[in-house]
This record gives sequence, C-alpha cells and structure tokens, in this order.
Amino acid sequence: MSKGASSTAMPRKGQPLSLKDLQRAASPSGNVPRLSSVVTLARQFQRAVRLDADYGSVDALKGYVCQGTARNVLETMSRQIVHTRQRAFTWTGPFGGGKSSLAVGLCSLVSPDRIVRQAASMALSFATAESASDVTRAFSASKTGWLVLPVVGHRGSVVDAIAAELDRHVGSSILRKTKSKSRQRTALVLQELAQQAGSRRSDGVLLCIDELGKFLEAAADGDDIYFYQELADVAGRCDGKLVVVGILHQSFEQYANRLGSEVRDEWRKVHPRVHQACQGAGVERRGPTAP
Ligand SMILES: Nc1ncnc2c1ncn2[C@@H]1O[C@H](COP(=O)(O)OP(=O)(O)OP(=O)(O)O)[C@@H](O)[C@H]1O
Ligand SMILES: [Mg+2]
Repeated sequence: MSKGASSTAMPRKGQPLSLKDLQRAASPSGNVPRLSSVVTLARQFQRAVRLDADYGSVDALKGYVCQGTARNVLETMSRQIVHTRQRAFTWTGPFGGGKSSLAVGLCSLVSPDRIVRQAASMALSFATAESASDVTRAFSASKTGWLVLPVVGHRGSVVDAIAAELDRHVGSSILRKTKSKSRQRTALVLQELAQQAGSRRSDGVLLCIDELGKFLEAAADGDDIYFYQELADVAGRCDGKLVVVGILHQSFEQYANRLGSEVRDEWRKVHPRVHQACQGAGVERRGPTAP
C-alpha cells in the first residue's frame, strides 16, 4: 500500500471504523487489511499506568472509559465520606484491571490544576451525571484544589514515602528532622496530614497509595503495621477531610496470610478500620480502543 493510500485509509480521530474505512485500507489486490493499518493504540494505553508519574497530566486521562465497577468504587467511597466518618479505603482488583488508571482519575478530580480537574470530570463522566451527587459532594474542590499525595509502593517504609511526599508538597522537612523508623517520624507524618486537612476549608487531603502490597510485604521486614491503624483513625477523626486510598492486587486477608504470625496479628486489628471499597470486584479489564 502506498504512503498516500495509508493516510486516507485511517478514520478520523475518535470516529468509529466503518466498512468503507476497511475497504479503503485494503490493498489493491483486495487482500484483507492489516489491523495496524486501521487501528492505532493511544500512547497511554501501551503500558501500565504509574500513579506518581501520570497524575497531573491531561494526556494521561485521554481515552479513559469510566466503566461500571470503577463508578461503583467511587460512589461507594463517596457515600461513606458524605454520610459516615469512614475515610480509609482499599481498592482490590486483578493485575492490569485499571486500578492505577482510576487512581489517576480520582487524584485528578481534586487536583490543584483546574484544567486537570475538568479533564478528570469529563473522563469520569461526572460532568453531567445525576448519580454523581455523592461523588460531587465528597470530592468537591475549590479553586485551589486538594493537597494530593500520590505514593507508589516499594519494599521500603510507607512512613518514609509519605513523609517524602509531604516534604515535597508542603515543605515540612520531616525526613530531615527525624530518623527513619523512629516513632517521632511516624507521629510527625500523622500530625502533618491532620493539620493539612484541617487547614483546608472546602478542600481536603487525598493520600493515594498504589501498590500498597509492596509496603505490606516490607512490613514483614520490620516496618510498623500499626501505622495503618493510626492512619485510618487519624483520617476518621481529624477536622477537615483526609481521605486515604490503598490499592492492592488481593484482599488484606490474603496479604496477611503470607506474612509472619506477629505481623498477621497486628494486621487483624487494622483490618476492621479500613473499608474495602471494592473487595473482589476489582476494576474491569478493558481492551485497546481505536483512536
Ligand atoms: N477504564 C479504562 N479506560 C481506558 N483504558 C484503561 C482503562 N483501565 C485501564 N486501562 C488501560 O489498561 C492498562 C492497565 O491499566 P492500569 O495500569 O491502570 O491497571 P492496574 O490495575 O493498575 O494494573 P497493575 O495491576 O499492573 O498495577 C493501561 O494501559 C491503561 O491505560
Ligand atoms: Mg497499577
């Protein structure tokens, strides 16, 4: 197929493929066209989404389709936030199911950047939907937006990772002032989160921890699992809105089963404090789309 023929064969961006498009894409000999000549894959769907890198970019939201399970997760969480003091949640879903994409959407919905907020509102289809009233109330944002702390898990300390995010966004210098694994560092992180939530009148603080399982596995190496209980309690008690979302591949219980008995016992105490917004349901898997 000549270069010219290839460019006319492509449908316009965003338009569905028609029979004509396929016929145009077919070679003069009448052979069936290659799929790659009529379908291209949007860049952002060619790789897994990484919350800390992709949050903040309008491009990362392009082509996002808000499906039923994702919508349910947001609505369930929002109901809890609006009608109860529950502020700590986990999302559980299969590999590649769209957890990080939804996290980018949620973080963007309350972002300090108005353009990003608008793009998220459109991507999550909350711009017009009536059923979104609890979501709109739970995650309403003023001009300044929320303090968003996107954290991605690794085999290290969750407290250190949150401290680093706080230092970066609010200049709290927790890492400089305290030692790793010290009680003082944990206390300062919790105090700063509560203070930041309390100081924002109509906005809140969203702490979103993707790949939380990696931090949980690190807990087996001595990181304090009790921190998660304190975090959930502080979020539920503090003035202002502090929302914590932890993203996992499997349920809390399944992680606990793989940990040592001491950590497992601690974990059983934490478990009831955290609402599992989509245990087992996951976030649907979806395939690539035509541009
Ligand atoms: N609702 C959606 N609309 C469009 N594309 C999506 C959607 N959900 C996921 N994708 C695409 O599917 C791929 C996997 O999504 P994502 O990385 O969010 O899944 P994940 O559940 O976080 O995966 P992992 O378990 O590996 O962390 C990405 O390329 C993403 O862009
Ligand atoms: Mg992910």
